[in-house]
Amino acid sequence: MQKRKNYKQVLIIHGPNLNMLGKREPGIYGKATISEINRKLEEIGERLGIDVESFQSNHEGAIVEKIQEAYEIKHGLIINPAAYTHTSIAIRDALLLLDVPVIEIHLSNIYKRESFRHKSMIAGVATGQISGFGVQGYAMALEAVAKMIQSG
Ligand code: DQA
Repeated sequence: MQKRKNYKQVLIIHGPNLNMLGKREPGIYGKATISEINRKLEEIGERLGIDVESFQSNHEGAIVEKIQEAYEIKHGLIINPAAYTHTSIAIRDALLLLDVPVIEIHLSNIYKRESFRHKSMIAGVATGQISGFGVQGYAMALEAVAKMIQSG
């Protein structure tokens, strides 16, 4: 997507298996596809004066590299680290590079599910966490990031 002057840049990172949204356990994650989520975020970004770039990977190292690229370029980050939420010190460490609002997001309420999902390696380094609001949570996250960027 084209970068526009005066628009702030927000990166959305979708972790492993989220490319299968719509097909993957729809009772838990809903029916929306990742393209639908990205399109919606672009529309909201348009209204808020924010350029939204979306990235999905099933690979931990690729996510780390994308976070490193965001350093000095992006004004905010929204990340659903998916299963890496519960395991990845590498993603946590990469996020510590950034000095911008970082929202950790989950479609499901991770605290209502299996106990191994209750622990987030990311929560302690994120600005905030949104969990359990389904696709609506992404819109909430983008609006929150926009307010933080524009007031700071
Ligand atoms: C998830 C929750 C994680 O526990 C899980 O591994 C996912 C998706 C969510 O969006 O609810 O892949 O991050």
